[in-house]
Amino acid sequence: MTGVVKQGRLSSNTHALIGAGNMGGALLSGWLTDRGSKALKAQEILVIDPAPGQAAEKALKLGVKFSAKLTTGAASGLKMCLLAIKPQSFSQVGPSLANALPKDTLVVSIMAGISLHGLAEVFGERPIIRAMPNLPAAYKAGITGYVCGEGVTQAHRDIAEPRLRASGKVVMVDTEREIDMVTAISGSGPGYVFYLTEILAAAGENLGLKPELARQLARQTVIGSGTVLARSSEAAAELRKSVTSPGGTTEAALDVLMARDGLPKLMGDAVKAAYKRSQDLGKS
Ligand SMILES: NC(=O)c1ccc[n+]([C@@H]2O[C@H](COP(=O)([O-])OP(=O)(O)OC[C@H]3O[C@@H](n4cnc5c(N)ncnc54)[C@H](OP(=O)(O)O)[C@@H]3O)[C@@H](O)[C@H]2O)c1
Repeated sequence: MTGVVKQGRLSSNTHALIGAGNMGGALLSGWLTDRGSKALKAQEILVIDPAPGQAAEKALKLGVKFSAKLTTGAASGLKMCLLAIKPQSFSQVGPSLANALPKDTLVVSIMAGISLHGLAEVFGERPIIRAMPNLPAAYKAGITGYVCGEGVTQAHRDIAEPRLRASGKVVMVDTEREIDMVTAISGSGPGYVFYLTEILAAAGENLGLKPELARQLARQTVIGSGTVLARSSEAAAELRKSVTSPGGTTEAALDVLMARDGLPKLMGDAVKAAYKRSQDLGKS
């Protein structure tokens, strides 16, 4: 991207975003476009990214400052610093951020697999929030779970929550173990739903449908079902029952899916595998 703005006097920056890739770019766009008083002004945001991508183009045009590195001067006055870099970059980027950040800046990390302990090793006594968003964040349709480290107050939560809400719904959990569970359900969940869409299409193809038609039917079915879930106040189980007539076609299929060794077992095993991986990543 061209035209990266050089850091000048940056005392008006209150929110820093480290990494403006897929997830960081989605958050950034939400920060700028949130309705009413929740939106941040462009001058309040500082983005650190050596090569910000397309997602950041609009922000640049709106006057958001971009820089390759966080300096002490630029960091003074920051209320919050949100890390949206890849977890594997953290060991390299984290220490220089910690050198620049004021001691009272709230650190919010959305990096998968970096524990509160791992963050505290780098950021010391600073208040730290660890959050786990998911892919629909890009359309403000995500859900983010977060857990607070020691020393995080309601005032810190009031700073972080509106920024996380820019990507959709936000829920707080009490323990880091639950963040690994959030990761296994909503963090990785979009992958499961995409796979379900794939195998529903493949099953249609196996029945004899043309591949393109099978893909179209499966995709729109998942989109439509998501819309029903979004618009209805009924629980998923109630919605399922409402489309399952006794002796009908849906029931015939659900008898297979809901069998003892069917989807409940598979989904249970799959989610446990994701949970374990999330825990293991946090230890490494
Ligand atoms: N995507 C998801 O669905 C999802 C869900 C939950 C959590 N997360 C977490 O969100 C984080 C970001 O994921 P992502 O998918 O948005 O990754 P991404 O698209 O690769 O974004 C990372 C960004 O950080 C930039 N970057 C690299 N080195 C940097 C540095 N030294 N200083 C500042 N920025 C730097 C990258 O620039 P270059 O491209 O030039 O390297 C890129 O723009 C990850 O930690 C991931 O675990 C993602």
